[in-house]
Amino acid sequence: RKPLTLHRLRAIREAGEKIAMLTAYDAASASLLDAAGVDCLLVGDSLGMVMQGHGSTLPVTLEQMVYHTQCVARGNRSAWLIADLPFGSYQGGVEQAVASSVALMQAGAQMVKLEGGGWTAPVIAALVERGIPVCAHLGLTPQSVHALGGYRIQGRDAQSADTLRRHAAEVGAAGAAMLVLELVPSDVAAQISAAYPGITIGIGAGARTHGQVLVLHDMLDITRSPKPRFVRNFMQGAPSLLDAVRGYVEAVKQGTFPDEALHGYAA
Ligand code: KIV
Ligand code: NA
Repeated sequence: RKPLTLHRLRAIREAGEKIAMLTAYDAASASLLDAAGVDCLLVGDSLGMVMQGHGSTLPVTLEQMVYHTQCVARGNRSAWLIADLPFGSYQGGVEQAVASSVALMQAGAQMVKLEGGGWTAPVIAALVERGIPVCAHLGLTPQSVHALGGYRIQGRDAQSADTLRRHAAEVGAAGAAMLVLELVPSDVAAQISAAYPGITIGIGAGARTHGQVLVLHDMLDITRSPKPRFVRNFMQGAPSLLDAVRGYVEAVKQGTFPDEALHGYAA
């Protein structure tokens, strides 16, 4: 297939087709996901938990993200490649965020992802002005786990839902071409998606975002830790890893995953 570009991703969104994203941390899985038709690969800082065995994403360094991005870029041919800015690599402000993003882009990323709303808007605008595509990340933002009081659903009450909608409008206006919404009520994610100028990608955010993302090792049931309700095990009944990932892409494209009742959250 032809390489995915931001232009083509926007066209997919305009056509009403869903976008399928998965995390990838190494060349072999990147190659497999690319072959299975996954639209976007995310070198997520979830690798701190999945690859490194940490209890959170906080210990992950920029150097480690650069290394994994290089590995994924070598295995990938046509998927759109997004890399997470890890904790502490952009919170210092525009200058730090630009330097860190340059490192990830030089490692092979085509877009960088950062967490949070409000203070991130000018940082996003600065990156976009400098030619670096940005994916924002709102809702449950794991780098803020200690401030949030655990891995819990966000935007459930009227006030926090308002804040979420305002933050989404701000990161959208700042030029974030993509927005990941993690662990938020399906209705809130649907409202944000309808208003968003770019592409929304949900994880535990219901079925009405423009696309979906899961942690690869969760959907392949490799991780032994208890999985959140929004994860579906795509290895079940699949004869191979390639088939499992193909099954995910197909389920996202056909709208059978996520299932609002099984995997979504009410306000
Ligand atoms: O690091 C990660 O895997 C992520 C996704 C869960 C969105 O940020
Ligand atoms: Na992440």
